[in-house]
Amino acid sequence: MLVLAIETSCDETAAAIVDERVRVLSSVVSTQVELHAPFGGVVPEIASRAHLELVLPVVQQAVSDAGIRIDEVELFAATRGPGLAGALIVGVAAAKAFALVFDRPFVGVNHHEGHLYAAVLQEPDLAPPFMTLIVSGGHTMIVATDAFGCYRILGRTVDDAAGEAFDKVARYCGLGYPGGPIIDQLAATGDPLAVRLPRPMLHDGYDFSFSGLKTAVVRYFDDHPQTRVVDLAAGFQAAAVEVLTTKLVKATVDEHMDTMVIGGGVAANSALRAAVVAAGETAGIRVVVPDRAFCTDNAAMIGAAALAQFARDGSDGLPSSLASSVVPGLRLS
Ligand code: KG4
Ligand code: ZN
Repeated sequence: MLVLAIETSCDETAAAIVDERVRVLSSVVSTQVELHAPFGGVVPEIASRAHLELVLPVVQQAVSDAGIRIDEVELFAATRGPGLAGALIVGVAAAKAFALVFDRPFVGVNHHEGHLYAAVLQEPDLAPPFMTLIVSGGHTMIVATDAFGCYRILGRTVDDAAGEAFDKVARYCGLGYPGGPIIDQLAATGDPLAVRLPRPMLHDGYDFSFSGLKTAVVRYFDDHPQTRVVDLAAGFQAAAVEVLTTKLVKATVDEHMDTMVIGGGVAANSALRAAVVAAGETAGIRVVVPDRAFCTDNAAMIGAAALAQFARDGSDGLPSSLASSVVPGLRLS
């Protein structure tokens, strides 16, 4: 079975073809970063208009890269939430239109579940139970996966998401947008011990707080304007990574699980990837780190989640009805 998946929840227009063995036949991601960069963040209206222009060319490219004909696709899927309403509608409308035209089922996918399935693209044999850290621009959570489709949220951020903190720190320091990859690159040449920053809520349950850390960086920079930006970036990244890794390991151990995985845009961060792998080795926990391209928003992860959801529930349920709507505030449950 081939699935064509579309992802338009935020500022990437993406399409992918994935087969029933979760092999990625193609994955096309068209980023709108340059359109939003002058504003220092995603502008919803601009995102929706760009998705409208890009969605069909991106789908065509995905079909052509996979070397298939679109009428060979047996399942059409799109992210139904969470995300920007106007952006989600474009992908969902396109996938439903294809489903109608080719008389195939449609599946609406939860974007968080997609991030979780990036680990399945990496290791198709991955089986629950396992612990997941989902870290993106809009969300930060620790999710216990007891079974696919059955999730317990153990902790989440009480203020900013981790990616949001990376982006805001970079913006304040005049480094550009999006901040995550820029800080990642700068930190590589900085001294993570030169600027000592707080580790908010480090030993305080599974919830996170990144707003105070962001403010601490801003204050430090105001008070020490001579600080090398690479050291500030390294110090901030080290603090964020320590908190994320510590809580992921603690949750895995507390829940007696032997596998932990990471997903979401911030899971592309070099220091986080290295820290989680090292922590896993120390604690004797298996670690699954998806390829960087499947951490940031992409449609292959949506395709993997869609195949599993379709195998589990078919397309009769509400998320997959052609009459279903997008859910901008959709949660994982
Ligand atoms: O998952 P994603 O692509 O979109 C959302 O669902 O939000 O995540 C985007 C976030 C942005 O905040 C971006 O700065 C961050 O992921 N990010 C990174 C890196 N690459 C992307 N953060 C840290 N290091 C990176 N290498
Ligand atoms: Zn995402």
